[in-house]
Amino acid sequence: MMPFEAWPYPRWIAHRGAGRLAPENTLAAFALGYAHGYRMFECDVRLSADGHAFLLHDDRLERTTDGAGEALQRTWTELARLDAGAWHSAPYAGERLPLLAQVLDFCSAHDCALNVELKPAPGDARRTGTTVAAQIARHWRGSPPPLLSSFEPAALEAAALAAPGLPRALLLEHFSADWREATARLGCVAVVAEQTAWTSDTALAVGAAGLRRLAYTVNDDAEAERLVALGLDGLITDRVDHFRA
Ligand code: G3P
Ligand code: MG
Repeated sequence: MMPFEAWPYPRWIAHRGAGRLAPENTLAAFALGYAHGYRMFECDVRLSADGHAFLLHDDRLERTTDGAGEALQRTWTELARLDAGAWHSAPYAGERLPLLAQVLDFCSAHDCALNVELKPAPGDARRTGTTVAAQIARHWRGSPPPLLSSFEPAALEAAALAAPGLPRALLLEHFSADWREATARLGCVAVVAEQTAWTSDTALAVGAAGLRRLAYTVNDDAEAERLVALGLDGLITDRVDHFRA
């Protein structure tokens, strides 16, 4: 992937659709984030046992659905029946887990950008990277292309082989000793780091490596100001009702 001449994504990105205001990683969350003026969304994508790409943050189903157990052990037919909204609040009861295809359609139809975090279950990184990247390359109709990100280098490596034209970003909780080598090897255009990992030194070093700089999950005014002053390109937030996109 050639670096972008100009970064084509908005600075403010809604985390998991609309952060905490609606059930995370559901179409209702995307609609709410959109209603608050957000035009780029981060979401977490993984695979069902039978290879369907869908949105879910955790490996297990308990926290954000009325199901139980490992999501990877369920077929899409089983997952599609689950309630993914009642855990959040009564108005969202009956909300379903969305397929990645539905989210791609929503973003294309609403002219929104997307950051797809590859969130594979343990041991499923390569299959997830390959399947998700290939599906996006086939299905996406908008502009700019979705930014793929992951904490799992193996998922990004597989995505690069399946759809080399899709931009990739390495997710980091901390700056590891090998972030330069890893981003170069994976052909990344950006680093998405936990907000406290960004200092003037790390921001300078990542910029000098020719990479864009994004932070998660920015919910605090002072922290947002600090990160903007450091020149960051993207801030992923839960607080879509507080920060103006
Ligand atoms: O992609 C940024 C952020 O979502 C990474 O952490 O746990 O919220 O998926 P998490
Ligand atoms: Mg995420």
